[in-house]
Amino acid sequence: MKLLVIFIVHAICIPCFSFDVPGKDLPLTLDYYKSTCPTVFDVVKKEMECIVKEDPRNAAILIRLHFHDCFVQGCDGSVLLEETETFQGEKKASPNINSLKGYKIVDRIKNIIESECPGVVSCADLLTISARDATILVGGPYWDVPVGRKDSKTAGYEFATSNIPTPEEGLISIISKFHNQGLSVEDMVALSGAHTIGKAQCRNFRSRIYEDFHVTSALNPVSETYLASLREICPASSGEGGSNVTAMDNVTRISLTTRSTTR
Ligand code: HEM
Ligand SMILES: *[C@@H]1O[C@H](CO)[C@@H](O)[C@H](O)[C@H]1NC(C)=O
Ligand SMILES: *[C@@H]1O[C@H](CO)[C@@H](O)[C@H](O)[C@H]1NC(C)=O
Repeated sequence: MKLLVIFIVHAICIPCFSFDVPGKDLPLTLDYYKSTCPTVFDVVKKEMECIVKEDPRNAAILIRLHFHDCFVQGCDGSVLLEETETFQGEKKASPNINSLKGYKIVDRIKNIIESECPGVVSCADLLTISARDATILVGGPYWDVPVGRKDSKTAGYEFATSNIPTPEEGLISIISKFHNQGLSVEDMVALSGAHTIGKAQCRNFRSRIYEDFHVTSALNPVSETYLASLREICPASSGEGGSNVTAMDNVTRISLTTRSTTR
């Protein structure tokens, strides 16, 4: 029995707020850049086509980057900030360090947009549009992206550590972390459908394949074979092969499962 998974990444694009101008948020709109940068959606789309063609994993990388941005202070580009004398960057927070990627890809898109419409489009909007386009390019659904997000001038290192769910975390705790972002259980299930694409490192699934995997694999013989191949990639002893990677979902790998219906 498979879950009905409808992938709706847009649900995490909760309204953004920049801490610098509290209360000054305008509602996001589709035509925010209509007069200042009318080509923004076309330019991002064209660039994303190249980026995903270069490596399909780039789609996964941008979707996850957007998720980690949105769970800290809202979708405000804070994940992209380097540390300064006054704050620590989110890049070094535990869920992100040696794991989150795609910063250079965002720079690349931002550079092109800057040459087109200098000083107009926020990084937060670019990341949000890119994640939507990435989703379409790997077979996922389309949704409109209202724009007008402001980039944060400060990052949330502690929030990145506390708000983003960890691979060892239990269901109740994950539900509560999504709830804190204004997201329901259904949102959480749908958004977790993002894990039909992309890759994970051995250190993040080691305990799963040496401790409790047998609970489910015993019910499904195919999983025993899969378990063996995962163990080949990921040795039991910590310290060995921790950064070896494998597909998050060995069946779909690069195309997003948007609707896998029950049978
Ligand atoms: C429900 C709680 C979640 C947990 C515990 C979680 C955890 C993880 C972990 C541990 C990895 C592997 C990172 C690595 O090994 O370097 C990963 C990868 C990924 N996550 Fe999640 N995640 C969650 C939700 C989400 C959501 C909501 C999205 C987006 C909508 C998402 C998108 C991705 C993608 C696309 C990848 C693959 C990235 C790549 O190929 O580099 N995840 N996640
Ligand atoms: C994944 O699937 C491929 C082809 O179906 C298979 O050869 C491989 O052993 C599987 N397991 C892993 C962990 O890649
Ligand atoms: C994983 O890591 C171990 C230990 O570093 C290494 O010997 C092995 O070849 C790696 N496996 C794969 C599939 O990369």
